[in-house]
Amino acid sequence: MDIPAEVAQTADFVVVANRLPVDKETLPDGTVRWKRSPGGLVTALEPILRSQTGAWVGWSGVPDSADNPVVDGLQLVSVPLSAQEINEYYEGFSNATLWPLYHDVLVKPEYHREWWNSYVEVNRRFAEAASTVASEGAMVWVQDYQLQLVPKMLRMLRPDLKIGFFLHIPFPPVELFMQLPWRTEIVEGLLGADLIGFHLPGGAQNFLYLARRLAGQATSKGSVGVRAKFGVVQVGFRHVRVGAFPISIDSGALDATSRSKKIRDRAAELRRDLGNPKTIMLGVDRLDYTKGIDVRLIALSELLAEGRVDPRDTVMIQLATPSRERVDSYIKMRAGIEQLVGNINGTHGEVAHQVVQYLHRPVERDELIAFFVAADVMLVTPLRDGMNLVAKEYVACRSDLGGALVLSEFTGAAAELRSAYQANPYDLDGVKDAIVSAVAQTPDEGRRRMRALRRQVLAHDVSRWAESFLGALAAANDVATGENRS
Ligand code: ADP
Ligand code: G6P
Repeated sequence: MDIPAEVAQTADFVVVANRLPVDKETLPDGTVRWKRSPGGLVTALEPILRSQTGAWVGWSGVPDSADNPVVDGLQLVSVPLSAQEINEYYEGFSNATLWPLYHDVLVKPEYHREWWNSYVEVNRRFAEAASTVASEGAMVWVQDYQLQLVPKMLRMLRPDLKIGFFLHIPFPPVELFMQLPWRTEIVEGLLGADLIGFHLPGGAQNFLYLARRLAGQATSKGSVGVRAKFGVVQVGFRHVRVGAFPISIDSGALDATSRSKKIRDRAAELRRDLGNPKTIMLGVDRLDYTKGIDVRLIALSELLAEGRVDPRDTVMIQLATPSRERVDSYIKMRAGIEQLVGNINGTHGEVAHQVVQYLHRPVERDELIAFFVAADVMLVTPLRDGMNLVAKEYVACRSDLGGALVLSEFTGAAAELRSAYQANPYDLDGVKDAIVSAVAQTPDEGRRRMRALRRQVLAHDVSRWAESFLGALAAANDVATGENRS
């Protein structure tokens, strides 16, 4: 690995994530540009790293790239992946084994030994890179399901480090996790950390049970709280803390941007461009089968067919960022979504008025904020989602107390956003009723709900998330108080 000498063992704070916060893009004339990487992990961590000095270890998004640029004062350290590793470790084990397994087996996980071998090898490379850049006693924060073996590997290389791990996706029910042929290795890999964080107490409790059953370790038995009452696993002389830390967004910054005249004007312009419909519905997602984009399209299609929603004064905008485009399940899902969009527009649209506006590309941050401000009803309908930051972003952008949020019960956000119109995404009638209630809410009811949602999102922002995690990590392995010892 090619790590510049000036970076060696200098960083007091190191983030280790599969992706760097920016993706490398080479333009046709050969110049290199770095553009924001997709997904909630980068959205959440970017503002934290801006306020710290440190290094970010990750992959550049393209094969065989070893560039280590400094972007906005942050030292990026590339872990190069070969085309075969992208195929086996990233598209294979991470996104066709672990991703579906951890998301309720919405598609069937594939178990291949060569994918696992590549996962072990790439995790080792990430651990080595982190060990090369971290200073003596540094804090290293390992992120997400792609790197679950890194904590143990890194501890073996550098026992002086404080190692935290955070899982950005759901931790599955024990019955599903037990399918994994390498289940014990994963649990032991995670137990190399001093602190293991999940979004919800349920995930933390699932993990504690598995640490007892698969790794044979003594654990606390009491229930885990939110940002408090951590679980403990005794690993030799070490105490590994296990906690729930629901992630969030930079709510204050979004709130401020969404109030600007530029954004307000653009939102009004979007509305005009759409023909001033009575209701604008909005979906914003990576194009992923977990997001339930099909659920909302089928619900809309039935509501239109039943005459409960009028196609002449309704527009649904679906913004979909391309994602994992070479993985089979994503290819199939995209075809299904595009067929649904075509069916709805073919049946209910007019030449001058498409009911569904579908954009298969990421949009700029300010443009996205204008969409949030313009939308009367935000549709967030995943079949399973660790948190879902989009729901929180919508709320943060509604200082006018306008708009309504339809939210799946199976998102992590549903635990906090109780005043949303919540629905079970498997119950299509329930989803349709939630949409109709949101469309028809009185202004008073809308304001009451949005005020309660905003109180939650503005008070619990991403810096509070990072502070609570890093505070617990700093205190880890000191004789801890407030833990559930048994
Ligand atoms: P995930 O991490 O699974 O992609 P989240 O909802 O937690 O889901 O986070 C998604 C992030 O990506 C959010 O910050 C959201 O604003 C952003 N995003 C999603 N779709 C788009 C899009 N089409 N254009 C721009 N940003 C998007
Ligand atoms: C989710 C995952 C992240 C991932 C992101 C984008 O947020 O939790 O780890 O980076 O999706 O997915 P991608 O496969 O493009 O990195």
